[in-house]
Amino acid sequence: MDNFSPEPNPSLLNSSNDPAHTRALKALSQIGLMASEMTDLRKTLAATLDLILETLEVENASIMLLDSESNSLRITAARGLPDDALGLVIPVGKGIAGTVAATGSPILIDDIEKNPEFSASGRSSYRTKSALCVPMRLKSTLMGVISVNNKRTGEIFGENDLQLLSAIAPQIGALIENAGLHERSERKVRELGALFDLARAAESITSLEKFLDECVQIITSATSVETCSIMLLDTRGRVLRIAAYTGTYLDTFKDCLIPLGQGISGKVGETGEPSILNDISASPASDRQDLDSAFRSALSVPMKIQGRVIGVVNVNNSLEKRPFSQDDLRLVTALASQMASSIEKLRLYASMEQKIRELSTVNSVVTKVNSSINLRTVLDMVIDLLVETLGADSGSLMLYNNDTGTLEIEVSRGFSSGPPITTFPLGFGVAGSVAKTRKPALVEDSSISGAYAMAPGERPLSMICAPMVAKDKLLGAICLERETSGGTSFDTSNLELLVTLANAAATAVDNANLYRDLLNIYFETIQSLAAAIEAKDAYTHGHSRRVTEYSLALAGIMDCDHNTLDTIRHAALLHDIGKIGINESILLKPGKLTDEEFSTIRSHPVMGSKILESIDFLATVRAQLKHHHERWDGRGYPDGLKGDQIPPGARIIAVADTFDAMTSTRSYRSALDWNVARDEIVRCSGSQFDPKVVDAFLSLGEEFINAVIKMQNPTNPPGELAARLVTNNPDLACLVDAARETI
Ligand SMILES: [Fe+2]
Repeated sequence: MDNFSPEPNPSLLNSSNDPAHTRALKALSQIGLMASEMTDLRKTLAATLDLILETLEVENASIMLLDSESNSLRITAARGLPDDALGLVIPVGKGIAGTVAATGSPILIDDIEKNPEFSASGRSSYRTKSALCVPMRLKSTLMGVISVNNKRTGEIFGENDLQLLSAIAPQIGALIENAGLHERSERKVRELGALFDLARAAESITSLEKFLDECVQIITSATSVETCSIMLLDTRGRVLRIAAYTGTYLDTFKDCLIPLGQGISGKVGETGEPSILNDISASPASDRQDLDSAFRSALSVPMKIQGRVIGVVNVNNSLEKRPFSQDDLRLVTALASQMASSIEKLRLYASMEQKIRELSTVNSVVTKVNSSINLRTVLDMVIDLLVETLGADSGSLMLYNNDTGTLEIEVSRGFSSGPPITTFPLGFGVAGSVAKTRKPALVEDSSISGAYAMAPGERPLSMICAPMVAKDKLLGAICLERETSGGTSFDTSNLELLVTLANAAATAVDNANLYRDLLNIYFETIQSLAAAIEAKDAYTHGHSRRVTEYSLALAGIMDCDHNTLDTIRHAALLHDIGKIGINESILLKPGKLTDEEFSTIRSHPVMGSKILESIDFLATVRAQLKHHHERWDGRGYPDGLKGDQIPPGARIIAVADTFDAMTSTRSYRSALDWNVARDEIVRCSGSQFDPKVVDAFLSLGEEFINAVIKMQNPTNPPGELAARLVTNNPDLACLVDAARETI
């Protein structure tokens, strides 16, 4: 006990017969015992007060410690006083205690009512009759005062009481100092431990979220507070968001956003200066927010990087009135400083990781979109990848229509009932402006910029939009949106990524268009050859077109997707192309065919497949064409495939082909009534035909079948009749629309 230096009053200690003497000795002895045990300041204060109450037989006692910075006394511990007395600040020089602190001399008042100087200084909720207040010094330095009021016996304080309290006051001061020293050294150890833990967390944790969670635990433990929160400033530097916290009642506030300048944290974030409020309820209401009012005391410290605030650390107590000290401020400031640099490093790390992910996405987009020549598939891939990669809530890809001079939304995601506007004239809205200027745009917040017309009730959005340009030709634009309520607007790095991907998408769209044009030219050439063959045979004239209508209607009813429909259309139109190589004398022979002739006829699927062999992207078409004479039971040709081995498109074409053959006049027989033909199809379900296709076939109505049978010299796109029949398959309508454009 370095500071324990008893200075007993000799006169009191020598009066061996005085009961006060006995009490003083007993008290000093107890203090001596406590000195070896007490290392906790609070426990020391409590035990000391109990000792004073017992020794002096008083109703109440309080210990007020001096805060030399503010030159005031604070009631640090009390017994018998109202609860709200604790923490009360008394300026040095004011009242009894303030006067004792100022003069260094004790004050003994017999009847406070008769003492005009101090009669008004007592608290109204407690009636003080007599008072005794002595200074508490340690090696001539004033530490505070000890104040007692009203003897329980009803007697007034006497000289002995004064001597007694004065005798034990320095011992109590020494006790408090020792406990304080112990506590300070423990605090130092805790502080160093917290800084060490923080450094270790910064080294071992690579996720910002996890690091901040660890930080609030470290700070809470180091400062012994009830609640700690770390708020980060958003990218626009306007709003603080709680990124990590401890304390269950903070659940209510975890998602709230604190605008810079508002409330305690908002002001700390704005000014970059820390704040200590030990009684929040006493601060002006305009300086508080709901969040602040949940607490009793608050210490808030800014986190800065090179003078720039990046967030705020808050520690709070809600129940206990332990005031935050300058020591607390120093500790939290040190931790906040270390955290700030760690956060910056983690952000850089996350940014680098994001860039790597983006690089991988760019590569993936380019690879994927270039692997498909189907425009619709390309667009679907592009929008899906962009919405996912850039964390958009919604997105739309628009293609530029040269004829109308407008952007039209081709694919969109995230709109519950479709995009509110689907056509944008050049210059209209963000997308129209981007397309017109061919410059990308970033709208951080639609409610602020005014660049984006908001519909009534629409929530504010952040938007990025980039033009799609290939070979200096405007192809369209891509727009992505995020709701800003989550505090996560798009930033320039998001826009850069979108621009890169929009360029890749534009190239892919251009390629898909080019492929489509090439395909159409090639396809039309073959089709015209096929038509020329059919034209030679009055009996098969229009057969391929009719088979196409039936096939597409069946595929549409069976919910085939766009790609399958597209290949079935090609395969149905070309299914008999192989007959080009078969002599007309066999093809048009009215009588019974010889085995050899029959074998020649049966070679047409393989020959057709060979004709298309050199065209890679028609591989699926070729397979359907080759197997359109296979049977469900495996007894067909050329390969005797069975059941699911047969390509689905080929199974569909088989039904369509057979039905049209039966309902057409052939060189060897006249046309069957279509009801008879339909019965035949049903009879062969499960043997020649896939039962599922036959089921779909039974859905074809009389009106549709009659329309197909009567179809003469069609100029409409293949599949139009089917699209009219099957209205609930948008892919079919889309396919026919696309075909119409190329006619
Ligand atoms: Fe055929």
